[in-house]
Amino acid sequence: MERKWWHEKVAYQIYPKSFYDANGDGIGDLQGVLARLDYLQELGVDILWLSPIYCSPLADQGYDISDYYGIDPRFGTMEELEALIAEGRKRGMGVLMDLVVNHCSDEHEWFRKACADPDGPYGNFFYIEPYDGTHLPCNWRSTFGGPCWDVLPGHPDRVYFHTFHRKQPDLNWENPQLRQEIYKMMRWWLDKGLAGFRVDAIINIRKPLPWRDFPADREDGLCSVASVQTQATGIGAFLREMKAEALRPYNAFTAAEVFGIPPERLPEFEGEDGYFSTLFDFSSELFGQTAEGWHTYTRITPEDYKRCCFAHQAATAGVAFPANIIENHDEPRGVSRYIPAADRAAMSPAQYERAKKLLGGLSFFLRGLPFLYQGQELGMENVPFHSIAELNDVSAAQNYALALAAGRSEEEALAVCALWSRDNARTPFQWDASPNAGFTTGTPWMRVNPNYTRLNLAQERAQADSVFHFYRKLIALRRDAAYVEVLAHGSLTPYLPEQGNLMAYLRRNGGRTVLVAGNFQLEPQEMALPAPIRQVLLTNGGAIAFWEDRVGLEGYAFLVAELA
Ligand code: GLC
Ligand code: CA
Repeated sequence: MERKWWHEKVAYQIYPKSFYDANGDGIGDLQGVLARLDYLQELGVDILWLSPIYCSPLADQGYDISDYYGIDPRFGTMEELEALIAEGRKRGMGVLMDLVVNHCSDEHEWFRKACADPDGPYGNFFYIEPYDGTHLPCNWRSTFGGPCWDVLPGHPDRVYFHTFHRKQPDLNWENPQLRQEIYKMMRWWLDKGLAGFRVDAIINIRKPLPWRDFPADREDGLCSVASVQTQATGIGAFLREMKAEALRPYNAFTAAEVFGIPPERLPEFEGEDGYFSTLFDFSSELFGQTAEGWHTYTRITPEDYKRCCFAHQAATAGVAFPANIIENHDEPRGVSRYIPAADRAAMSPAQYERAKKLLGGLSFFLRGLPFLYQGQELGMENVPFHSIAELNDVSAAQNYALALAAGRSEEEALAVCALWSRDNARTPFQWDASPNAGFTTGTPWMRVNPNYTRLNLAQERAQADSVFHFYRKLIALRRDAAYVEVLAHGSLTPYLPEQGNLMAYLRRNGGRTVLVAGNFQLEPQEMALPAPIRQVLLTNGGAIAFWEDRVGLEGYAFLVAELA
């Protein structure tokens, strides 16, 4: 693959609302990000993705935008964002904004105008259809539950379409005027000096029109919009246009959220001349999901995790440079998800720290761009839930109801939500052991994980072998002049993929070979070596016995070594 400036970078997602609150109103803000830029530099990351900070009623935490050109005053001002871009540049960091253009907010002026005059030009910015009071245009179920259609405010004889929440009306991409408005807005932002965008829910912009029913996948008679969406064809026309009009002229970097496209279409989306620079690899996040709701999801095992990663690595080899994650703002915490619950229950705190490092390291050195999510570098964990009232996010309600409807007790339904809730990732960043984890001097908008008194940055900074310092070492190693060729640009070959609960791979380039290996279980195991070790580059502190032709790895031991 042709080299791109971003191939050697390490990216970091900031969820501003929960990162750092500089003015004490309980909501994280841009001043808070500015105040912590030195921290991000100390960690070593150099691409920053900001989850949405545009004006928004926050029905879906900012993914419902009411003004694409304005910063929500709760997050700060345009001047502060400009300062962030400038301060980032001084530190060699690029800033990505979240590009949310499948839908806007029902409080956006376009939607207000559409409601005022559905037959006028703004009516055509949305999908608005006639309604007889009984028959909806199609039986698709929105992502957060209920039909994709709601009555257009003020017009009982019309409905509008929404893939997500009813406060997130979908924009009509079939309308060239709407598309030009979006490209204009993108150029306006790129002119401010952004490095690019993280691109939200982009696969949804093309619908399988005309509206029609699909076979129901639940008793409600509806069919999940996500599965319907896979039937849409011709999205390429929109994405090629977007790239030509608004991205290529700026050489902008884009990391896109795209679910459910088959591996053979990856080159089209993220190949050499793809629509986007890279796509997130969601294969291990999607593992075990069903259309019936969280209560039917199966939990992933280390073997499944390994298979998911390697399958995606194979699908992108020589074709694309994937973006690798173990968590983001829509997913539970990686350590709570990928380290089996039974193992976690049996572990000492020191073993758990090792396991967190193993997971971080195995994911980090996969071929591609590592994307860390705030708090991952501390090993932040899922939050305990005691009652359904504690669930904040819009996605939880329908899943709680579905679990109850399927016969689960309230306690069981709560446990299901506790496992999968997006709230797990959205609790405030744990800076120190002072009240509210040092996130705010006020009342935090969302409760802090009570484990902050022992799990926080201040404590981890002081502890030389903490998860935080381990992440710094991962980043430093990938940047090391001697290893950047092999670790950023090298190929990846799974090593002994059939050996149970061993996840290992070889990175190769320019005559160097680096072995990355982790014993993803509590029991020790031995691993044969393909060549003698020349130099151990990194371990997670787990005991390792070295012989000429093999190593003995204690439970959750992790090793990065250069081979002869
Ligand atoms: C993406 C975002 C998610 C949001 C949804 C609708 O999946 O990551 O947080 O709810 O799009 O915008
Ligand atoms: Ca604030």
